[in-house]
Parts: sequence; structure tokens; C-alpha cells
Amino acid sequence: MATSARLSCLKYLLHLAQDNLDFRLPEIKSLLALRGKPFHYSGHFQEKTPFWCLDGLSEEDVRGVMARSVCAKSAFELWGHGKTHSELKTSLLKYPTENMSPFMCKDSTYRINVYTFNKTLEFEDRIKRIDSMDYLPFEGTVNLKSPQHIFCLLEDYGTDPNDIPEHPNYIYFGRWIADGQRELIRSHSVKNRHFIGNTSMDAGLSFIMANHAKVNKNDLVFDPFVGTGSLLVACSHFRSYVCGTDIDYNTIHGRGRSSRKNKTWRGPDENIRANLRQYGTEDMYIDVMVSDASKHVWREAALFDAIITDPPYGIRESTRRTGSHKDVIKPQDAIYEESHVPVTQAYHLSDIFTDLLNFSAHHLVLGGRLVYWLPVYRPEYCVEMVPLNPCLRIISNCEQTLSSHTSRRLITMEKIKNPEELDSLAYLADPRFSPYQGHNAFREKYFSGVNKRSGKEDNKAAVNGE
Ligand SMILES: C[S@@+](CC[C@H](N)C(=O)[O-])C[C@H]1O[C@@H](n2cnc3c(N)ncnc32)[C@H](O)[C@@H]1O
Repeated sequence: MATSARLSCLKYLLHLAQDNLDFRLPEIKSLLALRGKPFHYSGHFQEKTPFWCLDGLSEEDVRGVMARSVCAKSAFELWGHGKTHSELKTSLLKYPTENMSPFMCKDSTYRINVYTFNKTLEFEDRIKRIDSMDYLPFEGTVNLKSPQHIFCLLEDYGTDPNDIPEHPNYIYFGRWIADGQRELIRSHSVKNRHFIGNTSMDAGLSFIMANHAKVNKNDLVFDPFVGTGSLLVACSHFRSYVCGTDIDYNTIHGRGRSSRKNKTWRGPDENIRANLRQYGTEDMYIDVMVSDASKHVWREAALFDAIITDPPYGIRESTRRTGSHKDVIKPQDAIYEESHVPVTQAYHLSDIFTDLLNFSAHHLVLGGRLVYWLPVYRPEYCVEMVPLNPCLRIISNCEQTLSSHTSRRLITMEKIKNPEELDSLAYLADPRFSPYQGHNAFREKYFSGVNKRSGKEDNKAAVNGE
């Protein structure tokens, strides 16, 4: 009873990286949801700050989140906080001694770190800060190299580098619990990856996508626009089985021109399987195949736990699908000769997203997530432009700015209904789902923006609805 009362009052402090700000909350919420835990913050929550106080979690939950998060740097058991050092002292002296004592006993070793956000302290000032905490009943021995327990004093000087206050806006003190997975950004950097292409997804964003998708051990994850498989690399790291398709034969078979500087052709083993092998996750590789996402080859069943993808935007790679402009009627049970190379036509952006949502509605398991990038023309973007499907609910919508006028939004959706449960007539009549039938606002707005700058023929054709 005493133990549960002790644990129920614990608060945890997350220290988050100050990049990809939009992606942080959905990441932490998704990782908590994976553990069946809601996101409960303590006090006044400010999403864009580097420190968040969370309530209602166990240390195991926090460790679980940190074992996956690339947005969070470190997590602490929060012992005290305040606007000034004197408020911090009052708060710390109120913290139950029985919570502190297991980490401060005589035969233990410890270290206190001082961390300042948006200000650099001189060494002497750091030492002064540590010395001033002598009111805490530390009985153990200081060990700077390999202490049993690490404590941290964290001072927040706001987020404006041009307006750094003399005194911190807020101060925290806590016991360090775990670091996040920021190291993955370096260890999985595409710079050192075996097989890359012009549009290989950045490692950090790939892991964020996998986290937004809640991919889990032994899940089956599919990327319909797999490219060089960066998203499969991230999902396989979290022990999901992975597979993908791409319309490009050379990409799937690791042939053709290399995207590396000073190299003309791809080497003999430059392919997605080799990428997974590089990171020790080849055992999670199912396969990839050449296939057109607009005419998928999967049997009609809820096959995938997550669909995670970066569709082509038609900017650095063309948006193509098989078929010609003429209406070719495919014969039933058509058999194509092996040497047949299908012609391709433009695959308009809006159709890509309509098809992707439709495919996900049919092929995700209930509760499974679709995570994908949607390119937008910023001045005219509004939330109504995000494609909808009655079987999928939007979980999050985060912006990554690309230029003053363009950005891409990471959309996460969760399957809430099977298509068979829909009243198809009501669905077709519902205006919320109609914009993506043919020529629609999103496509017009997006391409009108792109056309203003690039004047691309393909894009013009899309605007004209050709
Ligand atoms: C933005 S890239 C994906 C990059 C990938 N995430 C990576 O890390 O390498 C989009 C991919 O979609 C493929 N693609 C274009 N049209 C397609 C279609 N109709 N069906 C399947 N793949 C297609 C392109 O060949 C390209 O590899």
C-alpha cells in the first residue's frame, strides 16, 4: 500500500530534442499508446518547450518509451521543480524521503549533472550549482566515471537565442532514468548506407514514422512506394517483418545508376536486403517486388499491421503508373509474357493518395496505422485538403517545412472500420469524401503553387485534369 502510494505520486520529466517539433507529441503519444497508456501531462503543458512533465506512468513505461523515441533525449524521475532555486529547494524538501533514500544510501555512488537549455554556464558556475544542493541528504560517494545513480539539475532559459534571460525561466531536478534513441540518427544515417537513392528518407524521420505507425515486434509492415527501403530499415529495427513494392525495376533489383558521388553504376549487392543486413535485421526482411501501387497485386484481406510510405511527389522522381492514356480494357485472367514491359502514364498526385487510403482501408488490420507524407503548397494549405476515408481516422498531421512555400505533412491514420461495414451510398454522397474523386481542390492548389515555380508539363496536365 505504502509502495503504491509512493509510486502514484511520481512524475517524470522528458527532455526533448528541439528539432522536428511537430513530430514529438504524436511520437510520445503513439509510444505510450503501444503500452496502453494515455498521455497525461502535469501542470501547464507547452508543446514547443524542451521539457515535459508526465503523470500516471511507471518507470517501466518511461523506459519503454525511451527505448523507442528519437524525439526524446532523456527521461528523469522528477524530484522537484520551481521558477527559482529557492522554489526548487522548497519543492525538493517536500519530496518524500522514502522515494529518495534508495538512491542516496551510504554504499551507493552518484554524480550530479548540470544541464542548461539556451545558455552555456562556466565550469565554476556549474560547480556552484551542485554545491548549492547540499540540503539534499546524499550519503553515497561521488563517482564521476561510472556512478550507480545519476541526478540532473536542468535549467530552462527559454527558446529564444536572441533573448536569453539572466536567470532561468524554470528549473528541474531529478534522477536520470534513460536516454532516448537519438544515436540511431547517426548510426543509420543514409550517408553511410549501403544502398541509397535520390529520395532515400532521412534516418531520423524514418524512425519517427515507424513510431507514429506504432510498429511493434512481429508486426507485418508494408511500403507500397518502397524505393531504397529506408522505412523498412527503421521498421525492421523495431523487429517488424517488412515488405514493399516499387514500380521501378532498377530500384527493386538494385541496378542502374548510382546516387553516390564519384560512382556511376550500382554495385552487385546494392539492394534493400543488403541494407537490412548492414544493420543486422535481415531476418525481418520478407521481400520486395516490382509492382504498380495503382494496380496492386494483393489478395483482398486485412494483411498488414502498418502501411508506412513516402509516395512520389513528382518533384525529384516522376509519378508514373502502368497503362496508356487510351482506355485499355484488361482481359479477365490476362497472361502477360515475361518480356512484356508495360507502358506508363502520369499518376496524378490526388489519385495516388485516394488509392493509398483506399488500399489501406482494405488491407490494414483494424487498429492498424497508415503513415505517409502529403506534399502541400503552404500559402493555400488548409486542413480540409487532407484526404479522408471513412474507414480511417486521422491521428496526427505534422508539418515539415521544405521551403517558404512548400512543406510536406506527415499524416497518421488509424483503421477504425472495415469497408464492408460502410453504407456505400451514404459514403459516396458524403461531401467530406468527395474532393478526391477526379479534379479536386488539393491537386489544383498544390500544383498551381508548384507550377508557379517550375512550370512542369506533367503538373500542368494534372491541373487541367488530363
Ligand atoms: C519518394 S520515393 C520513396 C523513397 C523511399 N522511401 C526511400 O527511402 O528510398 C517514391 C518511390 O515511388 C516509386 N513509384 C512511383 N510511382 C509508383 C507506382 N505507381 N507504384 C509503385 N511505386 C511507384 C518511385 O519509383 C520511387 O522509388
